[in-house]
Amino acid sequence: MLQSTARITAIGSYVPERIMTNEDLELLVETNDEWIVQRTGIKERRIAKEDEFTSDLAYKAVLNMQKRFNKSIEDVDLIIVSTLTPDYRTPSVASRIQAKLGIKNTGAFDLNAACAGFTYGLHVANGLITAGVHKKILVVGAETISKITDWTDRTTCILFGDGAGAALVEYDEQSPSFLSAHVGSNGESAINLYGTNLANQMDGQELNPSGNLIQNGREVYKWAVTTVPKGMKAVTEKYGIELANVSWFVPHSANMRMIESICDRTGVSIDKTLTSLVHYGNTSAATIPLALDLGLNEGKLKNGDIVLLYGFGGGLAHSGLLIKWNLDN
Ligand SMILES: CC(C)(COP(=O)(O)OP(=O)(O)OC[C@H]1O[C@@H](n2cnc3c(N)ncnc32)[C@H](O)[C@@H]1OP(=O)(O)O)[C@@H](O)C(=O)NCCC(=O)NCCS
Repeated sequence: MLQSTARITAIGSYVPERIMTNEDLELLVETNDEWIVQRTGIKERRIAKEDEFTSDLAYKAVLNMQKRFNKSIEDVDLIIVSTLTPDYRTPSVASRIQAKLGIKNTGAFDLNAACAGFTYGLHVANGLITAGVHKKILVVGAETISKITDWTDRTTCILFGDGAGAALVEYDEQSPSFLSAHVGSNGESAINLYGTNLANQMDGQELNPSGNLIQNGREVYKWAVTTVPKGMKAVTEKYGIELANVSWFVPHSANMRMIESICDRTGVSIDKTLTSLVHYGNTSAATIPLALDLGLNEGKLKNGDIVLLYGFGGGLAHSGLLIKWNLDN
C-alpha cells in the first residue's frame, strides 16, 4: 500500500470550440467515418485555433475547476503541467499559467511523459505532499497535438485532438486518495512513437525530422495491449484488490479497440470504463482528466469509488494509479 497524505479535491477541463468530425477528415485524407469509428471508436475531435496554445487550454481548465469547486488557488505551492506540446521550449507551460492565474508563491515545471503524463503528474504530486514538501499542487494535463500532426498521414491524423484537464491535489491526512502506484518505461521501443526536436536520429536510426508525431501504430498497439494489463494487475495487487472489484477503469483514451482488448485480457467490464475518446480523440496527457470529468458530469463517478487510472504512450512509458475518489462537494 502506498503512503499518502494527499487528496484530489477538485477537477476541471477545457476543450477548444472547433469540432473536427470524421467527415471533415474525409476532405483531407483518403479515409471515411466508418473506418475510423470501427478501428478507433473516434467520431470527432477538438482543434485549437491557430493562435491558441497549450497554456491557453491549461489556464481555462484550471478556471473551470476553480469555478465549479469554488476553490482558492492563491496558496498553490507547486504547478505541474504534463504536456508534450508546450507553447515554447522555455518558458514552461506551468510558468505561463502561474503568471496568468496570478499565483505568487509557487514553483512551476512541465513534465513530459507523453500520454502517461497526467498519471505521472499525480504520482509526483502525491509523493511531494506525502513527503511534507508541498501542501497544494495543481496538476494539469494539456495538449495541442493538432499543431504537431501530419495532416497528410491518414494513419495518425485521425487519432489525435486537443484539450486540457486539471486537478487540485491537497494535503489531507484523514482521507488520502492515493492507494497504490505502478510505473514503467520501455525506452528500447521509443522509435515506435516520437516527434523530433534537436536530434534527428535515435539508436542509430534516422528519424522523420518534421517534428510531427510519427508512429508505428501496430507496434504501439501490440505494446499497449500486452504491457498495460500487467501494469493493471501490479497496481491492484499492491493494494490487495481484485481488478473485478475496481469501480471504474480510466485508461488513456488512445483507441477503443485497444481498450476493449485490454478489458478482454484483464476481465474488466467495458461498462466500467470511462473514456474521453469518442468526442475528443486521443488528447495525450489530457485524455484521463477529460474522461474523469465526463464521468463526473454523467453522474457515473461518485465519492467513495475505487478508480484505476492507467496512462501509456510515447516513451514508451506507462503509469498506473489506484485512487479513492473523494472530491470536495
Ligand atoms: C493506427 C491504427 C488505427 C491503424 O489501425 P490498424 O487496424 O492497425 O490498421 P493497419 O495499419 O493494419 O491498416 C489496415 C489498412 O487500413 C488502411 N488505413 C490506415 N489508416 C486508414 C484510414 N485513416 N482510413 C482508411 N484506411 C486506413 C491501411 O493503409 C491498411 O490498408 P492495406 O491493408 O491496404 O495496406 C492502429 O494501429 C492504432 O490505433 N494503433 C495505436 C495507435 C495509438 O493509439 N497511438 C497512440 C498511443 S498513445
